Amino acid sequence: MSDSFLATHKRTRMNGAFRAAHIGEHVVVYGWVQSARDHGGVIFVDLRDRTGLVQVRFEPSHLGGAAHQIADRLRGEWVIGARGEVISRGTNINPKIATGEVEILCDQVEVLSEARTPPFEIKDDLDTNETTRLTYRYLDLRRPKLAANFALRSRVNQLTRRYFCEGNGFLELETPILAKSTPEGARDYLVPSRVHPGQFYALPQSPQQFKQLFMMSGMDRYMQICRCFRDEDLRADRQPEFTQLDLELSFVDVSDIRTLLDGYVAMIWKDVKGYEVPTPIPSITWQEAMDKYGIDRPDLRFGLPLCDLTETLRDRVEFRVFADAIGRGGIVKALPIPEGSSLTRKDLDKTFPEEAAPFGAKGVAWARIAEDGSWSGPVAKGLSDELRAEVTARMGVGPGALVLFVADKPSVANAALAQLRRVVGERLGLIRPGTWSFCWVVDFPMFEYDDGEKRWAAMHHPFTSPLDSDLERLGSDPGSVRAKAYDLVLNGIELGGGSIRIHRSDVQNQVFRLLGLSQEDVDDKFGFFIQALSYGTPPHGGIALGMDRLLMLICGAESLRDVIAFPKTQKATDLMTDSPSDVAPHQLAELHIRTKVEAG
Ligand code: AMO
Ligand code: AMP
Repeated sequence: MSDSFLATHKRTRMNGAFRAAHIGEHVVVYGWVQSARDHGGVIFVDLRDRTGLVQVRFEPSHLGGAAHQIADRLRGEWVIGARGEVISRGTNINPKIATGEVEILCDQVEVLSEARTPPFEIKDDLDTNETTRLTYRYLDLRRPKLAANFALRSRVNQLTRRYFCEGNGFLELETPILAKSTPEGARDYLVPSRVHPGQFYALPQSPQQFKQLFMMSGMDRYMQICRCFRDEDLRADRQPEFTQLDLELSFVDVSDIRTLLDGYVAMIWKDVKGYEVPTPIPSITWQEAMDKYGIDRPDLRFGLPLCDLTETLRDRVEFRVFADAIGRGGIVKALPIPEGSSLTRKDLDKTFPEEAAPFGAKGVAWARIAEDGSWSGPVAKGLSDELRAEVTARMGVGPGALVLFVADKPSVANAALAQLRRVVGERLGLIRPGTWSFCWVVDFPMFEYDDGEKRWAAMHHPFTSPLDSDLERLGSDPGSVRAKAYDLVLNGIELGGGSIRIHRSDVQNQVFRLLGLSQEDVDDKFGFFIQALSYGTPPHGGIALGMDRLLMLICGAESLRDVIAFPKTQKATDLMTDSPSDVAPHQLAELHIRTKVEAG
């Protein structure tokens, strides 16, 4: 092996880019051996880099056969360089690969690195368990599908900077990672201070306060593709460490931010998918989303709206489960499925109750509507003929329909039915592949009541401005105050969220107090922020998009792990580096920390 090969042999182009137009060129290629096949003397090597494969051909008698002799030793994942001529594959075209019309007749080959047999084959659609893939992530990343996801991620980052900085006057600014605990709602990751015994930095859950301080600094328009850290329970669309496209703008209202973001997603989807997002992206109020879909991030790729039957049934329904729920102040809500006859008894008795249970539902009642309009199922007998007719009409369904009901407090009934709607939509094939359904959810409530803690909590975050029309009810009826907050939702996933901020220190103070913070707490945690607001603050607002989620959706990936290069597992561990891990006792001592658990 010699490094001088690299000095004298400069790569002509990446492997995936070879085409018929290059026939006759003398070229140099580098890459990993995907496969080496001996076809009766002629050896074919598929040479891979992150852009694709090109076939290299070794003839036993070509130029004395030196290259062929080396090729005979090549094994999978060895790294080689090769020089040769691009030739046509004639009638042996391989239509499965982009470079399939050509191959490189090799004059000279150099082995740059040998490789152990990898624990799994480097190819897509391989049934390797994720633990192995994550332990050997550098091998996993060689798989074409993953490599393509990261090439796309890079492109989206470039397009993003161009759109905001060049196209719309944003400055790309950076904010601290060692920061102060902020009220984003998740648990903080803390970093102990060596210099200040017993004190901690918090890693940012988002740069929220810093970006607002940029507006107070006169930066006017801020963007950053930044890392955020949240110690929360993980799901397929949640990582402890994730990336936001974070934005903040001065002198704007909600419509300016929506228009800007509409343009952004339209530009990205056009570039990456060739898809024209219809703009303006439609909006739905939070209230309507909850009423119709039971969730604040509705999947609008299909219909199936829910129907609240509480008032129709009140004092009239005999079905015990419904009457009891209404009696306790709950609701009865239905998911009417017009063409529901293909859903089976097993779905009704097992699948649906199991899907609804994690959301707190104690059961799922149902009724089928027959050709003659009669009802069957557990609910049927508990409603008079007249009431059944009324309910059928209210739901707007007819013969062949299946209706699912959940009776509970509103939060449970809505969450359970939202899940059932999703399951039924998928089961009945109501989602056309390739559909992109964007929507804005607007007019969120400012606060939600935390039953456990018995106090109001901010629904978005405490810097969010109330609607002007609701400001006067801040003191008297906080539950009814709506916020200038908006979420961007795509296919039932929350892509981003933001708000117009409070820019008056008195209102900000009032909101903090409503959230149960004493003046002392406010001074301690946010004193600097309230003070900053009092020195001349432009009206401002912003939004943050989850870039990992955006990429997951655009790549058609199932999990954020397919678009984050070195992700954490569901248990927030990194299997490759084996982190988190123990640290040396002297490190803990230096940080003035004693742990309660035994190391090991
Ligand atoms: P929010 O908390 O809604 O807003 O976060 C914005 C977006 O970030 C993404 N996201 C996540 N992605 C992956 N893993 C996670 N654990 C995770 N948590 C959130 C989501 C979400 O919509 N400072 C405000 C924004 C603002 O008001 O401007 C904020 O962070 O896609
Ligand atoms: P039960 O009378 O408890 O046997 O319940 C009769 C039917 O009502 C069954 O189909 C249960 O799954 C369903 N059910 C029970 N609790 C609820 C509830 N809270 N909401 C909707 N259906 C329920």
